[in-house]
Amino acid sequence: MDQLIIKGGVPLYGSVVISGAKNAALPLIAATLLAPGLHTLHNVPDLRDTRTMLKLLEILGAQWERTGTTIRINNDRLTGVEAPYDLVKTMRASVLVLGPLLARSGFAKVSLPGGCAIGARPINYHLKGFEQLGVTTRLEQGYVEGIVEGRMRGGTVYFDIPSVTGTENVLMASVMAKGKTVIKNAAKEPEVGNLIDMLFAMGAEIEGKGTDRLIVQGVDQLQATESTIIPDRIETGTYMIAVAATGGSVTITNCNPSHLPALTEKLLLCGVDIATTEDTVTVSCPDVAGRSICPLQSVDITTLPYPGFPTDLQAQFMALMIQAEGTAIIHETIFENRFMHVAELKRMGADITIEGSRAIVRGIGRGKLCGAPVMATDLRASASLVIAGLAASGTTQISRIYHLERGYETMVEKLQGLGAQVAKVKE
Ligand code: EPU
Repeated sequence: MDQLIIKGGVPLYGSVVISGAKNAALPLIAATLLAPGLHTLHNVPDLRDTRTMLKLLEILGAQWERTGTTIRINNDRLTGVEAPYDLVKTMRASVLVLGPLLARSGFAKVSLPGGCAIGARPINYHLKGFEQLGVTTRLEQGYVEGIVEGRMRGGTVYFDIPSVTGTENVLMASVMAKGKTVIKNAAKEPEVGNLIDMLFAMGAEIEGKGTDRLIVQGVDQLQATESTIIPDRIETGTYMIAVAATGGSVTITNCNPSHLPALTEKLLLCGVDIATTEDTVTVSCPDVAGRSICPLQSVDITTLPYPGFPTDLQAQFMALMIQAEGTAIIHETIFENRFMHVAELKRMGADITIEGSRAIVRGIGRGKLCGAPVMATDLRASASLVIAGLAASGTTQISRIYHLERGYETMVEKLQGLGAQVAKVKE
């Protein structure tokens, strides 16, 4: 297994290019299942998760090829309707094929994902939504089966919690249903908007993009089309926090700063300088005594659905707050077990207490974290350990970095380009 070795304490300078968003690429790749023909997707990141989704499409009968960041997928002849356990257990987003398969083939079978490192993560809202559209679902030997008698029909779907993949799945199921579907309390994440744009280009009729009420008028068929994946806002935010943590000044390009309203506000409150254009963000730490490394103010955060503070940046923000002056309360409201990084950060000198869904982070100030051997437990927890390692004195050794490779394209090379002393080595 690979490890990451970081020699910390080096401020980051330069510029870094952001890749396409993992959490937009996954539903857009799944959405190609809705129509036969040749689909073209641009700005697709080459990640473990996107490779898994493409592998799943292959199992279903699709053919695809990659040229740079462009992927062409031919779904003329679907030969399968089943997402096997071996794939779903490595990536729960595999459930995103349920909606399009039901819409196109009237039958789908997907292994029920188990719990994962950050929480139980059931898919009951997805299934309830499908049932509102006339799908019969049942659980057979660990697999969820969905069957539609005749054509799916429009209906009203209300989400108790605005589930991101739940909204995407029901949306994909509904675009070819007979009649009107209304999705209430829908997720408003930019990735959902990216999917709506693609479905729209394929010929779907959808109103309400960016709001919590989506209205879909079912159409008879959709056509293959060309779409572009939006920049990864979580990757962007991770680099923004990394610069705030190490000091220095970095311009992040090919991103969409308007997708990070909460993080931008919070970083400004910490004392970091941020300048944005339409597709770049420059993060700098104001000079203090000739060094680009300002003291950090502690700032509380509460994770919330978009446009609130993203849960996918909570761990990284905690790695920043451990070096601040004062106490920050970090309240995780989306997932019940997303503090796995805390024990690892404490091994590096962080002072954190967990009280239920809140972490009380008593800042120890800059320059006090010490490198240590630590273990990555999930994707975003791994990113938080990288940030802590970049800021700490001495050497940090992060094991199980395959988690990082699920969601960060060429992170080692991108960090090296900013002057970080980081290397991937065999354990
Ligand atoms: N929930 C249910 N039942 C459901 C669906 C969701 O109880 O049927 C609960 C979840 O357990 C959670 C909350 O509702 O407590 C919100 O979960 P959501 O469904 O929105 O999460 P998701 O769609 O499974 C996506 C991202 C996650 C991201 C969350 C929240 C993808 C592929 N994944 O997951 O990304 O954390 O939304 O924004 O889009 C990551 O990239 O590291 C990651 C975990």
